[in-house]
Amino acid sequence: MVAKAELHVHLEGTLTPSLMREIAKRNNIQFSEDIIGPNDTFLWNDFLHFLEVYDQASMVLRNAQDYRDMTYGYLARSAKEKVIYTEMMISPDHAAMCGVGYEEHLEGAIAGINDARKEFGIEGRLIITGVRHFGPEKVTAVAKKASVNPHPYIIGFGLGGDEAGFPASQFKEAYEIAHNAGLACTTHAGEFAGPESVWDAINHLPVVRIGHGVRSIEDPTLVEELVHRGITLEVCPGSNIALGVYPDFASHPFLKLREAGCKVTLSSDDPPYFATTMAREYQIAKEHFGLSDVELIEITKASITNSFADEVTKSMLLNKVRLHLA
Ligand code: ADE
Ligand code: ZN
Repeated sequence: MVAKAELHVHLEGTLTPSLMREIAKRNNIQFSEDIIGPNDTFLWNDFLHFLEVYDQASMVLRNAQDYRDMTYGYLARSAKEKVIYTEMMISPDHAAMCGVGYEEHLEGAIAGINDARKEFGIEGRLIITGVRHFGPEKVTAVAKKASVNPHPYIIGFGLGGDEAGFPASQFKEAYEIAHNAGLACTTHAGEFAGPESVWDAINHLPVVRIGHGVRSIEDPTLVEELVHRGITLEVCPGSNIALGVYPDFASHPFLKLREAGCKVTLSSDDPPYFATTMAREYQIAKEHFGLSDVELIEITKASITNSFADEVTKSMLLNKVRLHLA
């Protein structure tokens, strides 16, 4: 098994139905069984419904311990698949909806990262993430909170949610605040909207990575621009097929983007929603895109190099990849 690194996973999107049940029980919260499918996965029928189920499941999280257990649980599962580094998007607005304060939800996630490192040696970092469909004002408020509450594990700022309804340019103010506070920036784009959405993101926001970005392939000039600017794409093939962005792996543009010179990486997005894991994403790249183990290791190295971690952490991780090979 090759060493892996992940740049794009939503912390609330790592909550499995089994952990959700456990947390709901101890918090005495009811939830609808309709959202639970077989093999510890969730049920939903399209992107907007997925976002609703995601919001619903996140409602069981009520305190720092819940955030700690979710973070620790995901990092523990990842470490077993030889993931050595994971950047997790965390949404203060989802916490706020359940009455969990900004400091409290971070305290939980940070404890989960520390506990997982002690036990498994895996490194975790956090990307504070706004939700498009909650509107620009909420996202600006999240950026302000992130800018005045620095922590060594909080290294980035991002944006998820309904891409087609809320273009990136609406969130310029939030990104200016986050960027000025020293947070590295990424945003979802080119997933549920076309190349114009990616142009909008790279022309208006200080982003050095794009979440997904796969639909950039529809505009060759955009692909050239991404290569020229050295923008990293956080590609999540399993998610793209599960959500119907592409009908099958044969139609997925991963290889075309890679061949055009784009920096492509592999991530799982929301594992229990898409019945995936990092091991499965690497397996998809092997089986469907024909990548060799050597090429998969190159992907891991690209993820580390283009992560938002500091240089000391990056060289420690690259050394670990070398040790895995030895
Ligand atoms: N939030 C969680 N998963 C997401 C995805 N795949 N796209 C946009 N927002 C998300
Ligand atoms: Zn995502």
